[in-house]
Amino acid sequence: MKYTQGMLRQDALKGKTILITGGGTGLGRSMAEYFLELEANLVISSRRLDVLKETAKQLQEKYGGKVLPLACDVREIDQVEKMFQLAIAEFGAVDAVVNNAAGNFISPTERLSANAFHTVIDIVLKGTVNMTMTAGKHWIGIKQPGVFLNIVTTYAWTGSAYVVPSASAKAGVLAMTRSLAVEWAKYNIRSNAIAPGPFPTEGAWSRLLPADLANKFDPAKKIPLKRVGEHQELANLAAYLISDFSAYVNGEVITIDGGEWLKGAGEFNHLEQVPDELWDQLANMRKKKS
Ligand code: HXC
Repeated sequence: MKYTQGMLRQDALKGKTILITGGGTGLGRSMAEYFLELEANLVISSRRLDVLKETAKQLQEKYGGKVLPLACDVREIDQVEKMFQLAIAEFGAVDAVVNNAAGNFISPTERLSANAFHTVIDIVLKGTVNMTMTAGKHWIGIKQPGVFLNIVTTYAWTGSAYVVPSASAKAGVLAMTRSLAVEWAKYNIRSNAIAPGPFPTEGAWSRLLPADLANKFDPAKKIPLKRVGEHQELANLAAYLISDFSAYVNGEVITIDGGEWLKGAGEFNHLEQVPDELWDQLANMRKKKS
C-alpha cells in the first residue's frame, strides 16, 4: 500500500450527496473524483459552467455515478441558495458541503486596492459564510444531520506576509469551523477543516508562484519531508472527514503539509543546515574541555 492509493473501502460514501465549491479544477476536482469513486453523488460548482460540465463528463465516464455541475458565484447568496435548491431537486438531499472555492494572489499589501482586498475576502470568507448558512439552516430546519469540511491553510493561524487578504479570510473560516462545531453539534452537524501545505495545482501555483518564482523558490525544498503533496493524500483525508468513519471528529483542523509550517516555527530548526563534520567538531571540542 502507498500514499498515492485510495484509502477507504469502496462504498465508504455510498448514498451520500456531497457538494464541493470550486469542484471543477485543482484540489476540488481531485477530492470530487475520489468521492465519486467511493460511490457518492456529487454536486460541483464554480463560476465557469463549461469547465464544470467537462469535469462532470470526464468523471462520470471514468467512474459512472452522477455528477451535477452548477454555476455559482459563492459571493452571491441568491446564487448559493438557488444552487442548493437545484442540488436537492436532483438528489433529494445534500449530506455534506466542502467549502473549497478560494481566491488569492501574492502582493505587497500596500499595493492592493480596496477592491482587491475585498474580492479575496468575499470569495473565501463571505463565500463560505453563504454556503454554510444556506446548508446549515436547511439541515436544522428539516432535522437532517450534515457535515462541513472547510479547506483552509496553515497561515490561517500563523498569518503570512504577501497574502494578507487570504490569511485574514482563512482565519475567519477557521474560527467559524470551530465555533459551529460546538454550536451546531446538537443538530448533528459536524464541522472540520483541512490545512493543506503545497499540493501542486495549475490554478494556485500559476498565481502564487508566477513566472520564475517556481524555480527560485522550489516549495519541496522547504518541506521537512522534501516533497510536495500528492492529491490522493488530500483526497483520502477529505473522504475520511466526510465519511461516517470520522463521526466523532468535530471542530478539528488537520494539517497535511509534510511538516512545513512547524519548520518555520521551531527555534532551532535551522540547525538542519549544520553538516555532520561540524557536529563532529563540536563534539570533539566538548570532549577536550571535559
Ligand atoms: C493585485 C489583483 C490581482 C493581483 C486581481 N487583482 N488580481 N490585485 N494582484 N494578482 C485586483 C483587481 O485589479 C481588482 O481590483 C480586484 O482584484 C478584483 O479583480 P477581478 O479580476 O475583477 O476579480 P475576479 O474576476 O472576481 O477574480 C478573482 C481573483 C482571481 C481572486 C482575482 O484570481 C480568481 O478568480 N481566483 C480564483 C482561483 C484562485 O485564486 N485559486 C487559488 C487559491 S489558493 P481593482 O481595484 O482593480 O478593481 C489559496 C490557498 C493557498 O487560496 C495556500 C498555499 C499553500
